[in-house]
Amino acid sequence: MYRPAMSPPVDLPAESTRLIDAFGRRLTYLRVSVTDRCNLRCFYCLPEDARFPFGDRAFLSPHEIERIVGALVRLGIRRVRLTGGEPLVRQDILEIAARIKSLPGVEDLALSTNGTELARLAPELVRAGVDRVNVSLDSLDAEVFRAITRRGGLDEVWRGVEAALDAGLHPVKLNAVLLQENLADVERLTALTLDRPLAVRFIEMMPTASNRHLQPEAYVSADLARRRIEERFGPLAPLSDAEAGPRTGPAKAFRLAGAVGTVGFITPLSHTFCADCNRLRLTARGELRLCLFADRVHPLRPLLTRSNPDAALESEILRVLQDKPAEHMLSQGNYGNLVSFMQIGG
Ligand code: 5AD
Ligand code: SF4
Repeated sequence: MYRPAMSPPVDLPAESTRLIDAFGRRLTYLRVSVTDRCNLRCFYCLPEDARFPFGDRAFLSPHEIERIVGALVRLGIRRVRLTGGEPLVRQDILEIAARIKSLPGVEDLALSTNGTELARLAPELVRAGVDRVNVSLDSLDAEVFRAITRRGGLDEVWRGVEAALDAGLHPVKLNAVLLQENLADVERLTALTLDRPLAVRFIEMMPTASNRHLQPEAYVSADLARRRIEERFGPLAPLSDAEAGPRTGPAKAFRLAGAVGTVGFITPLSHTFCADCNRLRLTARGELRLCLFADRVHPLRPLLTRSNPDAALESEILRVLQDKPAEHMLSQGNYGNLVSFMQIGG
């Protein structure tokens, strides 16, 4: 396996970033999609007959990822998340993680996964420098899980969650998309937080071209989920500021009285987090995506062949950054050019 050199100590104030957009937002968080392949077929993510309509397999190599992410980190990115598709289907995911973690300035490396390969890989991911994982887990009922994912064993994912906890990946977050199909899991998943150090988050389904035919029948609101939880378990108390730490993403977090873990809600259809957006996305083929729902992407890969690729990357990133939109237009039915989350992993 590729072993990173020790990173030199970095002496940068946490909020020093040159990545500031036209609305004054400071961009310190990067989501890196490493593939748009996935070994599951969640029905809200892809139509049954989808045959990877997203193009060729010419994904960035670990070295290319290191180069592009390196430019973004020099400009001020501090936290990085690996996503897909399913990032663990890439054979070289450990090398990718190690190369990113060894970039001076990267304070935190996270991974979003469907968990199917996690039991096998959790300890090696830790050795490669991954700090924490989010596991997508829409149901704790094996049949519902299979119906939603159209594949896949709940057992292997659950073993993956336990392996992640055992390997010291902390916190382990479980993400469930709210659907009519898994309404009973609102209670089941919440119950896990009573005695386990898990952060369960319920996500409102976001519209994409792939799930258009499901809306609005399949849609369940976070308000409904919260009511069901409080009717069954009592009030959800917001985490104190100290406990919640700096707000780094769109989730709002709560805890049941006496619970070890937390419960959160992600409500993308309201615009509540666009004003504080701190994120950029890199696609698996090396394009910068300024907003999940933007209608275009900005290719960076061609700059790698320039005589001074680092300088070329930095100036292009700073130039296109000014196009980051103020907010998405989802509630007006405009979801940009995103066909499916499989392209970019949320
Ligand atoms: N809306 C909300 N979440 C989605 N995901 C995939 N498609 C959607 C959608 N349309 C989730 C996955 C995973 C994360 C990467 O995004 O379930 O948790
Ligand atoms: Fe930022 Fe776009 Fe996400 Fe809104 S939808 S929070 S603008 S990335």
